[in-house]
Amino acid sequence: MSYQSRLPKSPLAALAVVALAAGTTTALSGAVPAAAFPGIHHPHAHPTITSQPWGDFEGQTVDLYTLTSGAGMKVTITNFGATVQSLWVPDRRGRSVDVALGFPTLSDYVNDFLQQHTGVAWPLSGGSGDTYFGATIGRYANRIADHSFTMVCSNCSNNGVTYTLPANNGTNTLHGGDLGWNTKVWSASTSQGPGYVALALSLTSPDGDEGFPASVTATVTYTVTTDNELRIRYDITNNEPVGGKATVVNPTNHLYFNLAGESSGPVFDQLLAINADRYSPIDTNFIPTAPYQLSVAGTPFDFRHPKPIGRDITNVSSPDGTSGPFPQLVIAHGYDHNWVLNGSGYRLAAVAQDRGTGITLWTYTDQPGVQFYSGNFLVGDLTGTGGHTYRQTSGFTLETQHFPDSPHHIGEPGWPSVVLNGGQTLSSMTTYRFTTGGTITHFGF
Ligand code: BGC
Repeated sequence: MSYQSRLPKSPLAALAVVALAAGTTTALSGAVPAAAFPGIHHPHAHPTITSQPWGDFEGQTVDLYTLTSGAGMKVTITNFGATVQSLWVPDRRGRSVDVALGFPTLSDYVNDFLQQHTGVAWPLSGGSGDTYFGATIGRYANRIADHSFTMVCSNCSNNGVTYTLPANNGTNTLHGGDLGWNTKVWSASTSQGPGYVALALSLTSPDGDEGFPASVTATVTYTVTTDNELRIRYDITNNEPVGGKATVVNPTNHLYFNLAGESSGPVFDQLLAINADRYSPIDTNFIPTAPYQLSVAGTPFDFRHPKPIGRDITNVSSPDGTSGPFPQLVIAHGYDHNWVLNGSGYRLAAVAQDRGTGITLWTYTDQPGVQFYSGNFLVGDLTGTGGHTYRQTSGFTLETQHFPDSPHHIGEPGWPSVVLNGGQTLSSMTTYRFTTGGTITHFGF
């Protein structure tokens, strides 16, 4: 009924997940190898980590950390919102490309991420709204219908208690509320070892924070490896004693990718494959609706083999012979849905590629779902890190997570649990790995 601690605690243990050959899947290895990281492709690379002051938020110092792989990858991360600000990787000609949408300054992030709380639309009302660019989302990513839920738990003190949360997305609670984890200054510590550098960011979210029960402590560890991977590990502990209040948690990262470069325009031509036979249909409030999981076969949601992201987004002729706009794409103004990932355990979830730069993104996760969002609500009012504006489909997200609105389906078959009991720790990992190479045409899911 509740989360199990699925990963070993040691940061080195996270590195026991061996880098994968293209197109294969694997599970977390229980054994920790003697060498912290095998450094398969760049055994002599020397990763580095540095920091610089980036400003202040509510009297707290905010820093910007730079993590390099020694093999051409450079990631900047701020402890404001535990947010990835930029992600530079080499293209097939060795040119460095920033593949993550982001803002140039801390004040841009503060204005964007705090607008629900302050009520001051930024930069204008009717604009893109809160983008969550690159941020850590917590305590509960995605939507909870009717901004409330009733706890269902055993060996806990709050079974049957109903909690009211902020309504920050119509009547829903989205991404943890008005003041989610993306609006907090996290405390930071750095480490490094053979083949990697790491930045651990922590915060404690008190009992009642944004209406959620139980104090939890979250640590997000970003690791950059010599294999040009960004590993994101979540360790979230419910600080209540055993038998105390349970809570619900669902962390994710909200990176928007554009594999031709963050300023390059629409991602329509970029290839995407998702390791999923089913997706979650939504109602007009963007909440999964019965029968909750539908086959992707014969629909624009079929990404089982690589296809350009834009191929079916405007296509009114479906392979099953029907024609007209696909209703699910109309509701969401594009893709903004949960795909139910095949298999379980740490595995390949998706592959994406830009055929011009050759930059290929391999996404691995132990989560049951991924929200693929095609940037539908970017309306051209935001200026990004490269000085260009972002519009619809300027980037796409692959938010690895539990299924949207899971707190309304606790204990139901087909709904992996998001309940975290007192004394329990959730550990989870997602990796974004970058390579360049030939065009992906086939995918061994
Ligand atoms: C949601 C979108 C939302 C976006 C930015 C995504 O995770 O699914 O509907 O617009 O985040 O808030």
